[in-house]
Amino acid sequence: MLDLQNKHIVLGLTGGIACYKAAELCRALIKQGASVQVVMTESATQFITAVTMQALSNRAVYVSQWDAREPNNMAHINLSREADAILIAPASADFMAKLLHGRADDLLSLMCLARPVSEVPLILAPAMNREMWVNPATQRNVAQLTQDGALVLDVGQGDQACGETGDGRMLEPDDIVQDLIATFQPKLLAGHKVLVTAGPTYEAIDPVRGITNLSSGKMGFAMARAAYEAGANVTLIAGPVHLPTPRGVQRIDVRSATDMHSAVLSQVADASVFVATAAVADWRVAKVAEQKIKKTAQGNTPDLQFTENPDILGEVAQTARARNGELFCVGFAAESHDLQKHAQAKREKKGVPLLVGNIGPATFGSDENALLLVDAQDTQEIPQANKLDLARKLVTEIAQRIKI
Ligand code: C5P
Repeated sequence: MLDLQNKHIVLGLTGGIACYKAAELCRALIKQGASVQVVMTESATQFITAVTMQALSNRAVYVSQWDAREPNNMAHINLSREADAILIAPASADFMAKLLHGRADDLLSLMCLARPVSEVPLILAPAMNREMWVNPATQRNVAQLTQDGALVLDVGQGDQACGETGDGRMLEPDDIVQDLIATFQPKLLAGHKVLVTAGPTYEAIDPVRGITNLSSGKMGFAMARAAYEAGANVTLIAGPVHLPTPRGVQRIDVRSATDMHSAVLSQVADASVFVATAAVADWRVAKVAEQKIKKTAQGNTPDLQFTENPDILGEVAQTARARNGELFCVGFAAESHDLQKHAQAKREKKGVPLLVGNIGPATFGSDENALLLVDAQDTQEIPQANKLDLARKLVTEIAQRIKI
């Protein structure tokens, strides 16, 4: 199922050059399954036409509160009652100032004021010149709007249409969509700091060669995203992978198991959940050659000696036991056969309350997986699904266990 299936989103556009990105945003929302009703201010129509937005949303666009197409002539009531969320992108400085005061002199502001506050979330994606963004008046308005229950997204940084560089660009459409999707997820981990390891590690042999494994990092990245969606403060420690950082997640890139070990230890002290999805190499080469190892005329193969890597999860689980349940540890086990037996044995060996088993070769690099959850009482199968759906289920399981 798509993340915005059965969701009806009112997409509001206010005046700003970032309106050109609203066209992409509209498409991205529809691609995720949403139906989109566009409402524009008069100023927005200076930047992009209602024709463009109508064609992309496949619905007539509303601009005026005097629009006579609605039989009861109350577009502001009808539109706000139908919406699962109102997303204003771009939200101009002027529009935010207007919302803050509850003013309602055009259809979009009237509709925002008329929305049932507890049922229809209001999400704002600000876009403006950097000086306008840092102006105390704007920052005051952002703080007050947040206190009034709106979700004001952050702004992007970089080149601006005015030729200046700084904070104030509208977020990219994909980022806005991720944040909107997150508003529909229950905040099961609010107040928690979640630390996730993901991906493979790379153990150097010499400056050009190394040992690694086939982990893509997708499950760990999905875990980080799902934890963020659930309201957690998330740190993701990633081995060498080519994946975009999920929205709102602090990412620390590492290469070897030793690097990952140090990064985890530096972050775990104030964490309340640790999820070890990384496929950490078991061994590293004892002495990394400083120069590339050359082939010899005699065809001798290099004599590599190995040292065992630190067991990051095992070590963290030990400190977690000393912390009296303040830190909940989740391990993963990628097996090739006898999943239940091996997963249970690994849970006991690592000393973790929850272990997630999966068949490694069946899932490496794939967007899908099937999981077997093993705890002290039970085993539970989570059938084949995409990794983000599985990660969301896992977040629910973790949240239930933290409450106990
Ligand atoms: O022992 P094994 O590698 O099968 O254990 C898998 C679990 O332990 C995973 O959760 C993995 O992230 C974690 N692990 C670790 N440090 C290691 C080896 C594994 O954290 N050195």
